[in-house]
Amino acid sequence: MSITKADDSGLPVSLSEVSKAYRTGLGTPVCALDDITLEVAARQIVAVSGPSGSGKSTLLHVVGGMDRPDRGSIRVGEQEITSLGDTQRAAYRRRVGFVFQRFHLLPALTTLDNVLAPVMPYRVDFDKAGRARELLAAVGLAERGNDLPSHLSGGEQQRVAIARALVNRPGIVLADEPTGNLDTANGAMVMDLLLRLRAEHGFTLMIATHDPNLSSRCDRSIHLIDGHLVADVE
Ligand SMILES: Nc1ncnc2c1ncn2[C@@H]1O[C@H](COP(=O)(O)OP(=O)(O)OP(=O)(O)O)[C@@H](O)[C@H]1O
Ligand SMILES: [Mg+2]
Repeated sequence: MSITKADDSGLPVSLSEVSKAYRTGLGTPVCALDDITLEVAARQIVAVSGPSGSGKSTLLHVVGGMDRPDRGSIRVGEQEITSLGDTQRAAYRRRVGFVFQRFHLLPALTTLDNVLAPVMPYRVDFDKAGRARELLAAVGLAERGNDLPSHLSGGEQQRVAIARALVNRPGIVLADEPTGNLDTANGAMVMDLLLRLRAEHGFTLMIATHDPNLSSRCDRSIHLIDGHLVADVE
């Protein structure tokens, strides 16, 4: 399947002494990330593992510009993203692809319009609808563009969400437990798809997961406990 080329090539990610705490209801801060220093090469596929509450989602959120760390620096490609103003941060986030555990498709839009949604309000230098259709075909759902998400299985909905994550030609894709709501067979299919699209498009890929089978298919696996980076295996 040939997809319109000229995607961003993969972006390297560099975190230096990054920390993030959240205030809880009782006012006691919870340390979600504690002094994380990490270099991810362009195009690398990194599994982020660790128990519930260890900081996996927080790590993806600070790298994706959805949340700001309290301390430290995060560089993605040429950009230092912690110091960006709101407009620049919004522009940065548009260069990142996100895939979530619960798919987060818009229920009132067709699958094709869901894939188009991230680029719909913006001027881009490619054919938006053409690319959305190519991506739906690449995830095996060319015939389902006019269906509503509720008419698709969980695995199919996640495949639509992956197509949506790629519509912006992201240099980095952040997937937060993308197989967490799927059975083993559909989870494996979604992982196959992510790896195949990564090979075709060359984006850097960080995947939070509890699944050791999924981690073993990545280039590298980092392990968090209580916000600490405790293991890093290539
Ligand atoms: N918005 C928030 N407000 C308060 N505390 C938060 C918030 N988001 C995360 N936390 C806390 O930060 C810590 C790390 O949370 P995070 O969601 O990153 O963990 P996780 O590794 O993704 O867990 P899971 O495997 O359950 O998804 C947890 O103690 C969590 O309760
Ligand atoms: Mg999480």
